[in-house]
Amino acid sequence: KPVIFSGMQPSSDSLHLGNYIGALSQWVGMQQTFDAFFCVVNLHAITVPQDPASLVKRTRSTAAQYIAAGIDPEQSTLFVQSHVPAHAELAWVLNTLTGFGEASRMTQFKDKSQRHGSDTASVGLFTYPILMAADILLYQADTVPVGEDQRQHVELTRDLAERFNTRYGQTFTVPTPQILKETAKIYDLQDPTAKMSKSAATEAGLLSILDDPAVTAKKIMRAVTDTDGEIRFDRELKPGVSNLLTIFAVLAGRTVESIEREFEGRGYGDLKKTIAEQVTNTFTPIRERTNELLTDPAELDRILAKAADRASEVAEKTLATVYDRFGLLRRR
Ligand code: TYM
Repeated sequence: KPVIFSGMQPSSDSLHLGNYIGALSQWVGMQQTFDAFFCVVNLHAITVPQDPASLVKRTRSTAAQYIAAGIDPEQSTLFVQSHVPAHAELAWVLNTLTGFGEASRMTQFKDKSQRHGSDTASVGLFTYPILMAADILLYQADTVPVGEDQRQHVELTRDLAERFNTRYGQTFTVPTPQILKETAKIYDLQDPTAKMSKSAATEAGLLSILDDPAVTAKKIMRAVTDTDGEIRFDRELKPGVSNLLTIFAVLAGRTVESIEREFEGRGYGDLKKTIAEQVTNTFTPIRERTNELLTDPAELDRILAKAADRASEVAEKTLATVYDRFGLLRRR
């Protein structure tokens, strides 16, 4: 079976609608046809300051949300990044293959370091994409299903894989990003030209899986639209309405055109009410199952430990080859 690898940062208690539409819901559909590795990337999360107790809690909560959304731990390898030391070890080797200028061109680092202030941004934040490359390459992943914001990082991963293969002999599969056009970028409800993100200015534009349904509905009813009153998809002129239409279409499994037709001549309030129902219908079972799973953290930890064993086996093999090729003397 071809291999897929993807991951999310446990940087808040709840995943948001962008994570769900851009990544998680796609992963669920790919489990059967791929040998799938889904990672909770806690080593990535610490590239910005985290409260230690919250990080532990969020790591379990993120894993629980994967399962609750339909990732089957019997079928896919669902594990925590720090449980497999090979990620940090390969990242170090890849650090030595990455140009300083090359890493400096990563736009997400530029954005994030600006937000955190360039003096307080950590070196870890700078080398973050290289750790991501290590994640992907350790498992010889063919395909990496992500949202648009990760495209540049997967491109860097491809460059590093090709560079390594050219200099040291065929070692890594060169991965392809899978970024679905319609779902690649879900926007903030309050600022529909910015992507929906945990680090947005206000909570009001962010739909979180674990939010109370009343809160979700309220956020949708207050979503920014426009004044022409027409329910029509136009990303340029009507970013708010277009974002709502995308969300509705994806979650309902419908086309945007069929929704435009159904709502012809009707108001934004009507549309929003229907979308609020759709989103809460999607989130409610996931939220309930997540909360159930979190009542038994020991069981969750057992699931994660078993998956870490399986992941380690694959990762250690790749790492050993890399060390040999690099001339890092093996311990005998
Ligand atoms: P993270 O945790 O920021 O986001 C997790 C996934 O959700 C997608 N996503 C979105 N998709 C559409 N619209 C949005 N508004 C939106 N916001 C987030 C992201 O594209 C991502 O797929 N660096 C990664 C985590 C990572 C990773 C990896 C991913 C680490 N190692 C290896 C793939 C392979 C990140 O920070 O994602």
